[in-house]
Amino acid sequence: MTDQPLWHGRFESSPAEALLKFTESLSFDKQLWRDDIIGSTAHVRGLVNAKIISVAEGEKIILALNTVATEMSSGKFEFVASDEDIHTAIERRVTQLAGDAGAKLHTGRSRNDQVATALRLWCKRELAQVAKLTLDLCDVLTRRANEAGWGADAVYLPGYTHLQRAQPVLLAHHFAAHVWAMLRDVDRLTQTIERLDVSPLGAGALAGSSLPIDADFVASELGFARRFDNSLDAVSDRDFVAEALFDIALIGVHLSRLGEEWVLWTTQEFGFAVLDDAYSTGSSMLPQKKNADIAELARGKSGRLIGNLTGLLATLKAMPLAYNRDLQEDKEPLFDSVNQVSLALQALAGMIATARFNKETMKSAADVQMLGATDLAEWLVAKGMPFRQAHAHVGALVSKSIRDSVSLAQLVEADSKLGKQAAELLQPGIGISRRTTKGGSGPVPGAVQIAELNAALTVMHTRIAALTNSR
Ligand code: ARG
Repeated sequence: MTDQPLWHGRFESSPAEALLKFTESLSFDKQLWRDDIIGSTAHVRGLVNAKIISVAEGEKIILALNTVATEMSSGKFEFVASDEDIHTAIERRVTQLAGDAGAKLHTGRSRNDQVATALRLWCKRELAQVAKLTLDLCDVLTRRANEAGWGADAVYLPGYTHLQRAQPVLLAHHFAAHVWAMLRDVDRLTQTIERLDVSPLGAGALAGSSLPIDADFVASELGFARRFDNSLDAVSDRDFVAEALFDIALIGVHLSRLGEEWVLWTTQEFGFAVLDDAYSTGSSMLPQKKNADIAELARGKSGRLIGNLTGLLATLKAMPLAYNRDLQEDKEPLFDSVNQVSLALQALAGMIATARFNKETMKSAADVQMLGATDLAEWLVAKGMPFRQAHAHVGALVSKSIRDSVSLAQLVEADSKLGKQAAELLQPGIGISRRTTKGGSGPVPGAVQIAELNAALTVMHTRIAALTNSR
């Protein structure tokens, strides 16, 4: 019996080696064992509740499932060649342990609703974990932002557009920009978890069952918010996997942008940050090298995370209802994306938490008179000049300054429309102190932003704690 598949009944010969090798999923779905056992235990309770099996039979099966759990967690579970996936392996072992009672485990259930149930349970737990790690990185960035300061003596650096120096910004404001993006990632994950919180158990292979199984009962046993509405949809829906992969791909994109920035910041050309030795790597040939490999891989891995999403979408496209074996292809990209993004989040958090900033280099890169050009134009606007004229007036001074190699401040001082008072705007740190608009990068709006950021972080921490404690 153990060297035959569970579905051997209608077959006259054994499966070919090539079939087994090509179709097996045990090598990667092993990690669903916990969720399969939770799902199976709820199914057994459902069978007892519906009086399809006796209380004693139910107890016997659940005891066997508990033994399997012990064997799995201690690594003592023995797989056999005919174990096609984790679900058949567990059912085989339960039948071995619980005899005739065990053979009733799969009553009114198909692997189609079973695997969808296990995968949703897995996602609920693991996506909450990804959200938690994302929030941890938000915390690190917020801590570094607060260290850099939001007030008058805070660290600032050039803000860039088109990677050209544009206007000085607070380092805290810069870090917070990444935090706000990642808070949206955390929010998105919690919404995905909420949407996938639906039990498919009881849908059977595709059409339900003639046995009096109560899908609401098992849904609540499993802690799902509700049961499925349509059995065909329940077994064929992998929207939740696609959503999870999108959420993670977007985190990957955010991390790649953060990573790219750190690659630049740690170059000698920028010189804004120095990585801790524990979070940087050397070269096998060039003795002087110290590389930002974590940042580079954060950038590089985003390609793979996007690939996992597009791969699954291609698999799902044009697939007829209901379950098709194609759906087995949902797991590897999902497991890979969760694993890779978790590693990236932790490595980046450590890298950023331990890095040193060259505050003076940042400041002097921002204390370039040209970066005050917009402040000069706005000063003229405040004096009544239309902005387009002010822009042209200052632009001409910038052009002259470059052409004649004269400092902009000198030209401003000598200018009849601007003069000495306006030239003061080009002094180090003055521009940033005058940036007062809501959500802008200056000490005044900064004080509001840090309060808003702390409030948003607290809300997210509470939501994630509720999700990670619920199972
Ligand atoms: N290993 C399969 C999967 O991951 C389980 C479902 C198989 N169902 C079936 N009818 N062959 O999708």
